[in-house]
Amino acid sequence: MCGIIGKAGVGNVTPELLEGLGKLEYRGYDSAGIAVLRNGRPERVRAVGKIANLRDALDKTPLEACVGVGHTRWATHGAPSEANAHPHNSPDGKFTLVHNGIIENADALKRTVLADDKEWESETDTEVVAHLLQKFYTGDVVKALAETQKHLKGSYALGILCADYPDTIFAAALGSPLIAASVEDGSCIASDVGAIGGTLSEVYKIENREICMLTRDEIRFYTPDGEPCEKATVTVVPDALSMDKGGYEHYMLYEIMQQSSAVRKTLEPLLAGDFDLGFDDAFVRDGLKEIRVVACGSAYHTGLAAQLLFERFCRVPCRAEIASEFRYADPVVDEGTLTVFVSQSGETADTLAALRLAKERGAKVLSIVNVRGSAIASESDAVVYTNAGREIAVATTKAYSAQLAVFYALAVRFAAARGTIDEARRAELTHELAALPDKIQEAIDRAEAPARKLAETMAATQDIFFIGRRLDFAASMEASLKMKEISYINSQAYAAGELKHGTISLVEQGTPVVSIAMDGGMSDKTHSNMSEVRARGALTVAVTGDKNADAFADADVLLTMPDTDEWFTCSLAVIPMQLLSYYTAKNRGCDIDKPKNLAKSVTVE
Ligand code: M6R
Repeated sequence: MCGIIGKAGVGNVTPELLEGLGKLEYRGYDSAGIAVLRNGRPERVRAVGKIANLRDALDKTPLEACVGVGHTRWATHGAPSEANAHPHNSPDGKFTLVHNGIIENADALKRTVLADDKEWESETDTEVVAHLLQKFYTGDVVKALAETQKHLKGSYALGILCADYPDTIFAAALGSPLIAASVEDGSCIASDVGAIGGTLSEVYKIENREICMLTRDEIRFYTPDGEPCEKATVTVVPDALSMDKGGYEHYMLYEIMQQSSAVRKTLEPLLAGDFDLGFDDAFVRDGLKEIRVVACGSAYHTGLAAQLLFERFCRVPCRAEIASEFRYADPVVDEGTLTVFVSQSGETADTLAALRLAKERGAKVLSIVNVRGSAIASESDAVVYTNAGREIAVATTKAYSAQLAVFYALAVRFAAARGTIDEARRAELTHELAALPDKIQEAIDRAEAPARKLAETMAATQDIFFIGRRLDFAASMEASLKMKEISYINSQAYAAGELKHGTISLVEQGTPVVSIAMDGGMSDKTHSNMSEVRARGALTVAVTGDKNADAFADADVLLTMPDTDEWFTCSLAVIPMQLLSYYTAKNRGCDIDKPKNLAKSVTVE
């Protein structure tokens, strides 16, 4: 995953590189490093852990030069150590480079083309690129890079310094995002436009093995074969990347608190009928044979809810699919299939690959994305943006809620187009949807104190189970992921009726089992399942709507949320669960915004 940045400028570029790396830290924080060329000699400083550690290291060993590259790492090959931290050098010290992506054939290259190379500084796949450049270099970096690329399989965005070109950065990319841009005092590359300071609007997207050469005064492009070529800029509207925490201790809590507004801003245009789906209601009524929702992690969990909405309420077959499975499943999709790709970042490698496959096979491609101009958004037939604002905490909250809201609006529209609801029901649902942001706020206000209190008990537990049926099961999946990703407690979600088919054997005296029962049509059944675990000593926590509160009064801990329509319950069920995870993680002293081993944007498969 990793983030890379580089600048050929006028003054000392290190402070800017460091600041840019801070903005790229969402892509990984296992280690970080910067290299510069000073008087034609590469100098680098690297540190294990977050950018703050690199900053400290740079205080002790300052780097000052007007050309440099930087990297923040999410480890794929080799432990998060200083030796494995980028930038990496070629054995002769001529090349120094940073890389985002994975060189899939690194081991094969070491056995073949690079079989004579015995000196390896690191366990990374990246180092082979430095060795290949050295091998093919005869004075022309562009030619060496063209030859090197012929040997590389996988994905990469590369920023390269060469000691013989003291004022230049070379760059190339395949399947990993990389932009180049002219700024007031030089030229930059970065994995994300947001990492470059100032107000950029025109950038070059480096793609398909293109080679780029940047000096402070110009940016030149070359074909994969190393021939000079012209390239046009694209206009970007970078998302404002505010690092403000709104006065909260963590981004995650701030983002939980922003959910009402995120959902309101997402729904506003949709409730006003402002959909650009790339197809019309006639297709939804007559042409639509099947929907596949494809995504990863929490975004996939919104698909679990969408699957029920589209099948139960719109009577169209729908399956939620994990993108990393879909892309290799040889799926049967065609022009009657609507594939919906859901992603906060718009960059998730598996989701993007799945999208390309669906497109290739002729399916309609709609995406629900938060980051404007991201790869998934750009490659879709149509995009519905979630207007959640940039999300910084690794654990998603407001983007998840906004994605759900888009599915609600789509489901109401599809149901109306297919005639599975009448006008009166449509008006009722639309009215309830408009009320959802306020109900989310009420849910937050109600859940905050009890979730914080319950978290005192949860912090000491080893295992937690979340159970629910239908939409409550979809909410349980999300609740469980939230808990495990930030508190490191082993948590599992089960369809409530499935528990007794094996998992109930794990329930012991005091094991917390959270029953989500917001779906009125299923609450009796879920209550029975709650009783079953209680009979085996579980600590029972129930999440339900006001209407069902009496039925769950026997739970050890009862969290009641405002009632809403059956279609929209997921949005309210997750609120106390997000808060519970947050406070549990806080009580356990976890690094809430940057949990171990994770990154915000998963750009490798
Ligand atoms: O950027 P995306 O929405 O495509 O990311 C998908 C998942 O990586 C993401 O939802 C992940 O599961 C979150 N950390 C969950 O909180």
